[in-house]
Amino acid sequence: MNILDEEFAEFQKLPTEEKIECFEKNGRIFDMIISQQLNREILDDIYRITNCLRHISKSKAGSLFMQNILCHKRAMLWFTQPSSRTFLSFESACHMLGMRTSEIRDVSVSSEVKGESHDDSLRTFSSYTDLIIMRHKGENISERAAWLLNTRTNRPVPVINGGSGSDQHPTQAILDVYTLQRSFVNQGGLDGKTILMCGDLNRGRTVRSLSYLMKNFEDIRIIYAAPRAFQMRDDVCDFLNKNKIPYVVETETLEKVLPEADAVYMTRIQDEHDVTAGESGRTDTSRFKLSLSDLSKVKPNAVIMHPFPRRDEIEVAIDSDPRAMYWRQERNGMWTRAALVAYIFDVQNEILDY
Ligand code: NCD
Repeated sequence: MNILDEEFAEFQKLPTEEKIECFEKNGRIFDMIISQQLNREILDDIYRITNCLRHISKSKAGSLFMQNILCHKRAMLWFTQPSSRTFLSFESACHMLGMRTSEIRDVSVSSEVKGESHDDSLRTFSSYTDLIIMRHKGENISERAAWLLNTRTNRPVPVINGGSGSDQHPTQAILDVYTLQRSFVNQGGLDGKTILMCGDLNRGRTVRSLSYLMKNFEDIRIIYAAPRAFQMRDDVCDFLNKNKIPYVVETETLEKVLPEADAVYMTRIQDEHDVTAGESGRTDTSRFKLSLSDLSKVKPNAVIMHPFPRRDEIEVAIDSDPRAMYWRQERNGMWTRAALVAYIFDVQNEILDY
């Protein structure tokens, strides 16, 4: 343990409400680390910017205008865990706003192989860029990065968590809720809906971040469908209890709860987190997959979502069903991430006034 390890351990003991103050500046979000930082007002702001960017980008003049918005800023994508969607959508989002980007995708080409600490690499990278977007297998690495830059350096740059271990993936939750809100635009929005989450709820960071965001909506009900071994962890369940968000746990079969759902959010088994070889394979997940024959049990107005990558949780034949929203959901990622970056740099008025 070095002194930073000790100090960060103290920081982590703080209640979430106090911790997230460290990720704010002038009453605004500076670093995007965990979903609990987001409230309805901020989400609505980000979605307003998202809609505006989508509209502006339709014309050449609009695209050129967007290219100017952050052309004086640089972003670094530090993605040392596999990623295609999140990486590309962030890179495209930055480019859309005129930012130049650089990247590290492989620790084996970084000085960490020479024994440099992650903290020192971070300080080095932060001196060449104005924004760091991170994906890492470690649970609290983005949190530590934001804490270190904000409290131990003179030139903090914002940090965005692009996925941290099996803990959180807040920008996925932002795009998921955007997709849900748009899908339910003629049904009163997300308020009052039942969200069914299925798959590896224990180690999947997307369903964790999405669950935390549900506190911003009225009368939400959650159904967690997974075998016992893959059920949602206590920390999220405690959060739901504290915020009076009703949830039910289904451990037998997805089929039984399908008719109740307004949104069916499927996820894959996260076997990269297995501690012993073949551990995930020892649990039977066959009753937690969505096949074409199940569609008759899904409400006609419901949406089917997936953060991707997909394995066999959703049969490919379902893709052409009008309720399949996952490809649209994926495209929404680029727009909501561009909006988040614009929000962080406080340039949204330029966009909204266009
Ligand atoms: C997810 C992730 O990385 O957590 N993918 C993504 O970013 N869309 C989901 C997954 O890997 O299963």
